[in-house]
Amino acid sequence: MKKFILSIFCILVIVFGGLLSYKMFFTDNEEKSTNNPDNNSKIEKSSDEWEKIDIYKEENRDRYINYKDKNKELSNERVVLLVNIGIDQDFYTNVKPALRKDTNLVLTNKFYSLEKDYVPKNLETIDSKYQVGGKMLTHDARVAFEKMAQAARDDGYNIRAVSTYRSYNYQNNLYNNYVNRDGKEQADTYSARPGYSEHQTGLAADIDNNNTSYTSFGLTKEFTWMKENAYKYGFILRYTSENEYITGYKNEPWHYRYVGVDVATKMMKENISSYEEYYFKYLDK
Ligand code: DAL
Ligand code: ZN
Repeated sequence: MKKFILSIFCILVIVFGGLLSYKMFFTDNEEKSTNNPDNNSKIEKSSDEWEKIDIYKEENRDRYINYKDKNKELSNERVVLLVNIGIDQDFYTNVKPALRKDTNLVLTNKFYSLEKDYVPKNLETIDSKYQVGGKMLTHDARVAFEKMAQAARDDGYNIRAVSTYRSYNYQNNLYNNYVNRDGKEQADTYSARPGYSEHQTGLAADIDNNNTSYTSFGLTKEFTWMKENAYKYGFILRYTSENEYITGYKNEPWHYRYVGVDVATKMMKENISSYEEYYFKYLDK
């Protein structure tokens, strides 16, 4: 009987001893594995996920990670695009010179500005049939605008430019008047500060239908015509509710920007809602 109890005791010692060493062995390995190269490769792999994105920029890596942290629902591709655009920062901070200045592809917005003395080359007055007050655009935009306005007229619609090229000083007065009227915070939602307006590029036109105020253009049949046809002449609707978080401006159904037929068509086909997204996807080279 004593022998029997002794054997049971020995068996139990062996079994528990075995279990204990098994656990210690694996715990030890798990701890070691946090320092082993296999585990590091997991970390490496997640940074590689960023690097695989073709518009990835090494200098923005920390900003991608921070922005993704705050916007977990966004894909990594989207995060990289939005951070490259700059919208993880406050508007009017880290401002740089306008991109591709003096071309039809220039980008100016709340992160990219034009100098005080910048005046575009080739400003030309639009045919008086399609504008009021001697409004000017740069050559390509002027030609395209006249074609578009004539095509609208042929279809029975009126398109008229009421504000096009604006100098820095003109924009300065405009902005200051808005600030005096509504305060800076409000003014910033609908007016560019001087040096930041697309109107200074000579490529933007505010339009009406020669009948109702331009601010009601979104309610007109001309607006519907523009939605269907503007891209064919190289114009895009620049500020919409959909892209407000990118541009920092409220919906402006009257403000069109000339970018050329190829870009306008591609934006329409690919359903790209802002010029910023197009620019940083295809032109940021
Ligand atoms: N209203 C547009 C944003 C401008 O002032 O240029
Ligand atoms: Zn405008």
